[in-house]
Amino acid sequence: MPNHSLINILAIESSCDDTAAAVIQNGVVLSNIVAGQKVHEKYGGVVPELASRAHQQNIVPVVDVALKEAKLAKEELHAIAFTAGPGLIGSLMVGVSFAKSLALALNIPLIEVNHMQAHVLAHFIDDPKPEFPFLCLTVSGGHTMITVMHDFFRGEVIGQTNDDAAGEAFDKAAKILGLPYPGGPLIDQYGAGGNPGAFVFPKPNIPELNYSFSGLKTAYLYFVQQRVKENPQFIAQNLADVCASIQYSIIHHLMKKLILASEQTGIKQIALAGGVSANSALRKTLEEEGQKRGWKTFIPAFEYCTDNAAMIAIAGHYKFLEQNFVSQEAAPYAR
Ligand code: KG4
Ligand code: ZN
Repeated sequence: MPNHSLINILAIESSCDDTAAAVIQNGVVLSNIVAGQKVHEKYGGVVPELASRAHQQNIVPVVDVALKEAKLAKEELHAIAFTAGPGLIGSLMVGVSFAKSLALALNIPLIEVNHMQAHVLAHFIDDPKPEFPFLCLTVSGGHTMITVMHDFFRGEVIGQTNDDAAGEAFDKAAKILGLPYPGGPLIDQYGAGGNPGAFVFPKPNIPELNYSFSGLKTAYLYFVQQRVKENPQFIAQNLADVCASIQYSIIHHLMKKLILASEQTGIKQIALAGGVSANSALRKTLEEEGQKRGWKTFIPAFEYCTDNAAMIAIAGHYKFLEQNFVSQEAAPYAR
């Protein structure tokens, strides 16, 4: 590898509705900037065209702030890492094009990062770090999977969702309750004071280590429609209990398969990743189950749960050490 005493990497993330940039120096995060996009709130989900336009507006200022906060000039960078996929193709395109032109202008290498891999590698930003092999439950707006991590870039998916992702289940439940997008954090917030056993939803019965959340979504819809027919004030009068019960049903399904995965593999180092890992009840449940079962659990800091560029930066750092670069031909991929 080149004789850099310092490795400064700028990382860019634009796969969905957050424009993010981070700077990492020798594996230490110097800055981590995220610009969210309020524009989607009233639509109940991310509108791809609006997302790409907002990325175009945000990317230059977000990168500027990330470099300023890191107290580095562009010329001091040794590589640019970017999210190549999976994600919204128009959104990814903005980050990929920006990364390519900056790398070309500075004559430094480009590093391609997979967004889902980066969610898992976020555990290598701070201490304590998991040791290989460990199990990771990755729960985001688009994915729900259990992976055996054998090495930084060698993960074996042993279970995943057959339909909706856990984050989608949270967001769709919130929409049914009339809450804005993304509803996951709101269900978390309102459910905190509620009784998780107040309302009982059917438990998905899916073989092996796989998940399914579409049945739960339908169950929430029928439940809410029925109760509102009986009492138009039902949601307002029972918001905390409804949110806590919905949250419990999702967490119960997530934990059941994770426990089974640990039993089947014998692995007791268990990590959580992705946007839904910000959920306070899920974090608490994992800790409690972990204590009961002798697990060593790894829960990311809040800023590394939802989409961010620090996780792209740490993945970029490990790829830099392997000199794993891509050419200017690199292209984004949706899946
Ligand atoms: O990883 P992420 O930021 O984006 C994707 O890659 O999809 O995950 C976003 C998802 C959304 O579905 C959002 O509602 C959910 O994570 N989420 C939460 C919480 N914070 C974010 N779900 C439940 N409780 C939270 N506190
Ligand atoms: Zn994500």
